Amino acid sequence: MAIELKSLEELKTMRRAGLLVAQTLELVRNAIKPGMTTSALDAVAAANIKRGGGISNFYGYHGYPATICVSVNEEIVHGIPSAKKTLRAGDIVSIDVGVEVDGYFGDSAITVPVGEITPELQKLLTVTEESLGAAIEQVRVGNRVGDISAAVEQYVTRHGYSVVREFVGHGIGRKLHEDPKVPNYGPPGQGPKLKEGMVLAIEPMVNMGHHASRVLKDQWTAVTEDGSHSAHFEHTVVVTKDGPWVLTRP
Ligand code: MF3
Ligand code: CO
Repeated sequence: MAIELKSLEELKTMRRAGLLVAQTLELVRNAIKPGMTTSALDAVAAANIKRGGGISNFYGYHGYPATICVSVNEEIVHGIPSAKKTLRAGDIVSIDVGVEVDGYFGDSAITVPVGEITPELQKLLTVTEESLGAAIEQVRVGNRVGDISAAVEQYVTRHGYSVVREFVGHGIGRKLHEDPKVPNYGPPGQGPKLKEGMVLAIEPMVNMGHHASRVLKDQWTAVTEDGSHSAHFEHTVVVTKDGPWVLTRP
């Protein structure tokens, strides 16, 4: 499939979607407290997306049953919010939010501490967020998708962590998942060339232990095979002639 390039008009709509995603993530971040259930976080997000004139783009996606993904500790991505799952101090929790505004999508994720966490876990969060920063620096006309992938992998492995292989970033626009795929590993200088107007959801998923993952019986929740903690950060980024434009950053 061809990679769609977006016009400035389309990008302005995508920016509105991106800002609603960012605002929703911020609200959920501020709501997180020990004792809270993950479905309560889902409700916070759903109310804000509705108020902002958007639609959750995860709800109903291949049958996904909630507004956002909430993935705790060894859960990598696609954790389903549940009234039976309560956050505890010391947990880390990944919040993944996608919305559609006027036919265009935005997608972003953060991983945040619940109460006090150990310095080891804090380092995992910091390194994962910084690996996304290193990836975004590669978003320049003339670079290739592989330059983004290699930037993440190199940054993460340098710090002794591993990068998840089974889930990757993606193009985004009028659909949640468009071409190209954006892996978080692989050699630089390969893959499609970045062109003005391409929009990519870049989303490193980083495990403290081995990179292997498996999916739970709920058919959604991806967890680390070795039970080690995992972190996830994501932004929706446009390739412009002046460099990266992060649509999901206020
Ligand atoms: N943000 C994730 C992604 O880009 C989550 C989508 S899966 C869903 O793939 F089912 F929750 F929508
Ligand atoms: Co995504």
